[in-house]
Amino acid sequence: MERVTSGDIGGSLPVENVQALAANKLLDNVPLRYIRPEYEHDQVVDDDSNHQIPVINLSKLVDDHEDELAKLHSACKHWGFFQLINHGVKEQVMDKIKKDMEEFFKLPLEEKLRYAKLRNSNEGYGQAFVHSEEQKLDWTDSLFLVPQPIYGRNLRFWPTTPSSFIETLEQFSSEVYAISKTLLRMMAKNLGLESEKNLLNLFEEGRQGLRMGYYPPCVQPKLVVGLTPHSDPTGLTLLLQVNDVQGLQIKKKGKWLPIKPIPDAFIINIGDIIEILSNGEYKSIEHRAVVNSEKERLSIAAFHGTNYKAMIGPLLELVKGHNRARYKTIATFQEYLRKMLSCKLDGKNMLEELKL
Ligand code: OGA
Ligand code: NI
Repeated sequence: MERVTSGDIGGSLPVENVQALAANKLLDNVPLRYIRPEYEHDQVVDDDSNHQIPVINLSKLVDDHEDELAKLHSACKHWGFFQLINHGVKEQVMDKIKKDMEEFFKLPLEEKLRYAKLRNSNEGYGQAFVHSEEQKLDWTDSLFLVPQPIYGRNLRFWPTTPSSFIETLEQFSSEVYAISKTLLRMMAKNLGLESEKNLLNLFEEGRQGLRMGYYPPCVQPKLVVGLTPHSDPTGLTLLLQVNDVQGLQIKKKGKWLPIKPIPDAFIINIGDIIEILSNGEYKSIEHRAVVNSEKERLSIAAFHGTNYKAMIGPLLELVKGHNRARYKTIATFQEYLRKMLSCKLDGKNMLEELKL
């Protein structure tokens, strides 16, 4: 396979560091560029434990429990989100990634800026998807890396402090990558594909991006947004809540439903690419992150895309007979990514554009 790396695909404009901004004790009003009146009237569902996303047990799935497979299928069709328990990632790996990540964000700003995004890179420390000086900004900083495929790693952006971070990231990345493959295999089964390879081959040497997000506390949390409402443009996302501050909300029947993370479970969601490949059977749901007035919040999202050469469109065997294709096809994932990185991540804009 031709060795495309993520480096040449697209960048983002540099913006002010939010953590440093939030740490300014004299700041009692949030700068205008972060104020988001467009979300002022959004409704949030009252705290209701009966209305949470499904919980899927991975050890049952791999043992081919019919009930668990059915539950997964239903979660992908009706929720686009679920929590994954018994995923087998050792507690030690989970603890290390959380600890190293927390330590990284505690470093002085000038240390972190050694890994700052460059103009044309999507990897590094900063904010993504900023394309104009007028664009409103999210109340977050992030460190974005592309650990898979391994040959595409750009170690230039991998922090050497704390000293164990690189090894921890490698371990975490490969464990999460393996889980994504297992889930894709189960989805191939559930979608009734003639061969699971028809899905898995697309994800062979697939791209994995890791977004380590840091959401500082905000003096006016209701006026800002941690992460603009969006659906994930890639295939399958595994999210780990790093500290015990909630913030993720998903859109359900026009309202925002706050997610209550089970400690050390992964929160999994279907991205636009799986919605497209499944010809709309599985749903890529809009979600956002909100911020807290007192506490910082940290999370890690692992995004799984196909390999750079894969064609992105409804799987041929799903558009036979009466089933017409509901989405356009893009020749390669590389082209898809370039398109995605030149957009503003906002609602389901990218997916809407691909709908037929
Ligand atoms: C993302 C995302 C949510 C969170 O990075 O795409 O949706 O809780 N993150 O940090
Ligand atoms: Ni997301």
